[in-house]
Amino acid sequence: MPRITSLNPADLSDTVTQVDAVDAAGLVAACHFARGGQPAWANMPAPLRGRVIAQVGRLVEANKESLAALVTREIGKPYAEALGEVQEIVDTCDFFLGEGRRLYGQTVPSEMPDKALFTFRMPVGVAAIITAANFPAAVPSWYLVPALLCGNAVVWKPSESAPAVADALAQLFWHGGVPRDVLHVVHADGPTAFDGISAALDEGLVDKIGFTGSTAVGRRIGELAGRHLQSACLELGGKNPLVVAADADLDLAVEGALFSGFGSAGQRCTSMGTAFVHTSRYDEFVQRFATAVSNAVIGDPTRDVLYGPLINETYLSNFGKWLDMVQGHHTVHGSTGTGRITAGNPREGFVGDPETGLYVHPTVVAGVQADDALYAQETFGPLVGVGRWDTFDEAVALANGHGYGLSAAIYTRDAATAFRFRERSSAGMVSINNSTSGAEAHLPFGGNGLSGNGSRQSGIWVLEQFTRWQSMNWDYAGTLQKAQMDNLGLVSRLDADPTFRL
Ligand code: UN1
Repeated sequence: MPRITSLNPADLSDTVTQVDAVDAAGLVAACHFARGGQPAWANMPAPLRGRVIAQVGRLVEANKESLAALVTREIGKPYAEALGEVQEIVDTCDFFLGEGRRLYGQTVPSEMPDKALFTFRMPVGVAAIITAANFPAAVPSWYLVPALLCGNAVVWKPSESAPAVADALAQLFWHGGVPRDVLHVVHADGPTAFDGISAALDEGLVDKIGFTGSTAVGRRIGELAGRHLQSACLELGGKNPLVVAADADLDLAVEGALFSGFGSAGQRCTSMGTAFVHTSRYDEFVQRFATAVSNAVIGDPTRDVLYGPLINETYLSNFGKWLDMVQGHHTVHGSTGTGRITAGNPREGFVGDPETGLYVHPTVVAGVQADDALYAQETFGPLVGVGRWDTFDEAVALANGHGYGLSAAIYTRDAATAFRFRERSSAGMVSINNSTSGAEAHLPFGGNGLSGNGSRQSGIWVLEQFTRWQSMNWDYAGTLQKAQMDNLGLVSRLDADPTFRL
C-alpha cells in the first residue's frame, strides 16, 4: 500500500506523519460504506444532528491550541493564523448547530381550494469532498459540517500535504458523536482520487462532489460531475484585485495590501493578486507598500511573523515559475533578494534558520499591465503585483479582466465609489476598506468565472449544496382537482371588466 509522508515545511527533518493511501477501489469501498451509513443518519431528527455538530464544535474549541499547533507544524501557517483557522471551524459549528432546529421548508398557497403545498429539504446522499492544503481544517469544515447537519454521509479526501491535520479533525468529529459510517477519510493522491470518484459515480455511490483547489482540476471535476448530471460545489482560484482610489486612506490600504498579499504566505485563494492604484497615489503607494513589505517579519511560523514557509516543495518549485513572469518593464520591491531565502540569499530580520525550511522572499512587482502574464495568472505564494489606473472604468476593467471572480477589495472614502465598485465587480465577495482575504464564516463564500461555477459555501447559502428541495401537495377536496385546468372557473366567476378606465 503506498504511503503519504508529510514533512514540517519549517523543518524538513521533522516528519509529521506517514499514512496509508488508498487506491481507486479503496475510495469506492469508502463510498459504499458511506452509502450504507447515510439512511440511519438522515433518519435522526435534524435538531439531534445539530446537537452532534454542537458537540463537535465544543470539542474543537477545547482542542484549539493543539489543532492549531498541528496546522502550523504540518503546513507552516503562522500560529496566530492557525488559531484563526481553527476558530473558523468553531464558528461554523456554532452556526450549524442552530440550523439543525431550522432547516426550514415552506408552506405555499395552492391555486386550488382544499389543497395544501409544502417544501422540504432532503439530504443529497453521499458527498465526496476534496480539499486543499492551505486551509487544511477550516475549509474542510465548511463542507463537512453542513453536509452532515443536513443528513448526508461524507467521504473526505484531504490534501496529501496535510494528512495529520485531516486525521486529527476527523477524530474530533468522531469523538463529538458523528458516526464512523457517515464520515470517512481517505488519503490518496489527486489522480487516484479522481479515478476513485469517477468509478464511484459510475456505481451510483456519490451524489455530490465538493472540491476546493485549482481552476484546472476544478474544470475536470465539473466535467465529471456534469456527465453524471450533477453540479459540483467548486471553490477554485483567484486573482483578487485590491483597488486603491484617489481618496483612499493610504495607511489603511497599505496595511490591507500587506495582509491580503502576504498573510498565509499568499497561499489563500482569497490572497491579493494585484493592487490597482489610482495614478495620483501610485508612486506613494508603491513606496509605502515596498517599505511595509521590506520591514515585515518572516520566518519561524511558531513565532510572531507575517508568514512562514511555503506549504511544501511543490509550492516552492511553482513559486520559481511565478518569478519567471517578472519582465523588463517591472520593478521588484519588498526584500533583499528574490526566490528562496538561504544563508547566501538572506532576508533582513528573518526569524529562525531559513536553511531548515521552505522560505521565500516576499516579492512586490510594480508596473503590472493588463497584457502581462502576471496580470492574469494566479500566483499562489508571496508575490503580488501593483498596477495603475486613471479612470474608474479602467479600474473596473483591470479588476475584472483576468476572468477570475472570487474576491475583490476597494479602498475609498466615498460611499458612491464603494457601491459602484460592488455593482460592477464580477467577484463573489467584495471588501470595502478591508483585505481581500479573511471572509467570515457565515457569509456566502465563493466565486464566479475561473473561480467557480457560482456555488456558495457558508451560512444558509451552502444548504443549497447539501440538500435538494422536495415539494409535496396534499389535496383534501375528496375529488380530483386538476391544476391549471379545474381552477379556471374560479377566476372567471370573478367580475372583471378589462375595458374599465378612470
Ligand atoms: C481559501 O483560501 O481556500 O477568506 C479559503 C479567507 C478565509 C478562507 C480562505 N476565511 O481568507
